[in-house]
Amino acid sequence: MASSAPHPDPWRAVDAQPTAATMAAALEVRGRTPSQIRLRRRFLRWVPVRAGDRVLEVGCGTGVVARDLAALVGRRGVVTAVDTSATLLERARALSRGAPGGRLVFRRADGHRLPFADRRFDAVLAITVILHVEEPLRVVNEMARVSRPGGRVAVQDQDFGLIGAAHPDRELTARILDGVAARIYPEPHSGRRLGALLRAAGLVDVKMLADVYQDTTLTRFSRNFLERRAENAVRFGIVDAPTAERWLDGFNALHAEGNFVLTMQYFGAAGVKPDRARR
Ligand SMILES: C[S@@+](CC[C@H](N)C(=O)[O-])C[C@H]1O[C@@H](n2cnc3c(N)ncnc32)[C@H](O)[C@@H]1O
Repeated sequence: MASSAPHPDPWRAVDAQPTAATMAAALEVRGRTPSQIRLRRRFLRWVPVRAGDRVLEVGCGTGVVARDLAALVGRRGVVTAVDTSATLLERARALSRGAPGGRLVFRRADGHRLPFADRRFDAVLAITVILHVEEPLRVVNEMARVSRPGGRVAVQDQDFGLIGAAHPDRELTARILDGVAARIYPEPHSGRRLGALLRAAGLVDVKMLADVYQDTTLTRFSRNFLERRAENAVRFGIVDAPTAERWLDGFNALHAEGNFVLTMQYFGAAGVKPDRARR
């Protein structure tokens, strides 16, 4: 009999989580973290997103990326942003009121079944979403379908096989970070595989961009990330609660000495929809 247990990745079903409001706040904290702003905007310029574009963002969350996209496309452009979570879309609408740039339209939809006609958008993006969805290729196929021929399809993800964390207990750090990622994500190395995913969806001229989130000050984003990993390590039985606490104390001690370091590798991939669909 199929299990009815909820999937361990809370981003698959945000509205079903008791912590949905906290998750919304966490997206905004990440969105405002300087190193995250830099790597997100670098990716959007690299895709590229241009003035006047009609852009679709899949998995927009609270609209962090959509607001940047609206600024990039300007007054002649339009950004449509979809997400499965009504809670996040409500926050996105509230936070985008009065945002500068092009028209911004939020809509509830699943990336596996986009409610748009073929060939409608100049650029279609998904940022830190592919890692979370049930069928990545199906989502990217949908993104390609709604892109116009010659249009750009672009995705960006963390790669949870490439986290650089300074910590006095290296073995424990690897056990927690690798163990939690393996239990939550079907493909923790999603980032490095994004180029292959775009090619599998029939996109051409696929290029990749590696970039790094780096923190040497224990930002709120890094702290949230490490605390959630510690919490999950206990939940999955990887370590007991005192060990998880000791692990977090190790980061706090490094921070107090000015020696905190956390890096997280991101990969972007962008491809072009061929003039004549190959599929
Ligand atoms: C980690 S958040 C990223 C949000 C936003 N792109 C950002 O970078 O701030 C992942 C988002 O994907 C959404 N999501 C998950 N599965 C989805 C699906 N099948 N279709 C559309 N959105 C989905 C979640 O609700 C969540 O908002």
